[in-house]
Amino acid sequence: MKSLCIVVPKKKAEPVRRRLVSKGVLRKGLQIRSDVKHVYLPVSQRLDLGFPIETHEFEETDDHIKDFRVLVDLPDELRRYLPSSYDVLGSIAIVKISDEVLPFANEIGQAIIATQKSIQTVCLDVGVVDEFRTRGVKVVAGTKAMETVHREYGLTFRMDVSKVFFSPRLAAERVIVAEQVEDGETVIDMFAGIGPFSILIAKTRKPETVYAIDSNPDAVKYLEENIQLNKAVRVEPILGDAREEVAKLGRADRIIMNLPHNAHKFLPEAIRALKPGGVVHFYMIMEEAELESRMNDMRAVAMKEGRVLKPLAQRKVKSYSPSLNFYAFDLEFL
Ligand SMILES: C[S@@+](CC[C@H](N)C(=O)[O-])C[C@H]1O[C@@H](n2cnc3c(N)ncnc32)[C@H](O)[C@@H]1O
Repeated sequence: MKSLCIVVPKKKAEPVRRRLVSKGVLRKGLQIRSDVKHVYLPVSQRLDLGFPIETHEFEETDDHIKDFRVLVDLPDELRRYLPSSYDVLGSIAIVKISDEVLPFANEIGQAIIATQKSIQTVCLDVGVVDEFRTRGVKVVAGTKAMETVHREYGLTFRMDVSKVFFSPRLAAERVIVAEQVEDGETVIDMFAGIGPFSILIAKTRKPETVYAIDSNPDAVKYLEENIQLNKAVRVEPILGDAREEVAKLGRADRIIMNLPHNAHKFLPEAIRALKPGGVVHFYMIMEEAELESRMNDMRAVAMKEGRVLKPLAQRKVKSYSPSLNFYAFDLEFL
């Protein structure tokens, strides 16, 4: 439904949201929206806080029950094993369920569908399983549809969640990378999947070309479709092995390496494909204690290629397991 809203730059959104709550003007029952730069806070009246006031369409939420866990009928002693969150990819929710409450998987799925209007299918996540990093998924409630359309920062991504990798938890990381891209850059996205990094860069920056490589034919099929859907004409999809394909391209200003278990095996080829002073956005899953030794390994690889590694930034993007984290590194190679 349509509502008045205050349009706030992302960095200022949380304090403004709290102020609106304390003044009782933030509308309940409407889902707060955002795009790359702004958050749209639906309000019940015009309030001059120095930000633009506009009218936009908002999704309605069910205010009565937000937490799906209260709807699951199971013995009290098992309640603590219920999942606390799940990933949403378009109309599909993907949830990890511990063994203790696995017999209640269907009830959990039904409860998610009942509390989140946009969800039509709930799948059990049985782990990332193959070289293409696809999740093993099993439908536990709702329709059997595996294809969905996910929206992120105003962009549209069609995918089959059982055939390609996509993580909505990397949305903020994609923006951090895209914001670094300067006009006229040549970018190589070595493990592009269905294109979320490449398409965001092409749509929000002015690169010369973004080469988007993936070895999964299904991922490249959806990548091509998503390029069309978003009119991301500067993205050039390439089906093939990143190691071989990157060697065929001219040298790049920037390379994205989102293959967090194995990217280090492709680093020599990436460095060779990078202009002097170019930047690699490198992703790795590891324990915190390994950070220094992994960085030293990368320094050694750079030296072997006759280059010097200058780390620019390092981020913990998310937890991966109780002991492992997903890290991002912005690395310049001189
Ligand atoms: C972790 S996913 C990242 C996808 C995408 N960058 C994203 O953020 O959604 C890694 C991708 O690398 C692809 N891949 C794995 N090995 C590859 C290789 N040797 N060459 C090219 N792509 C590869 C997989 O098919 C998968 O789509």
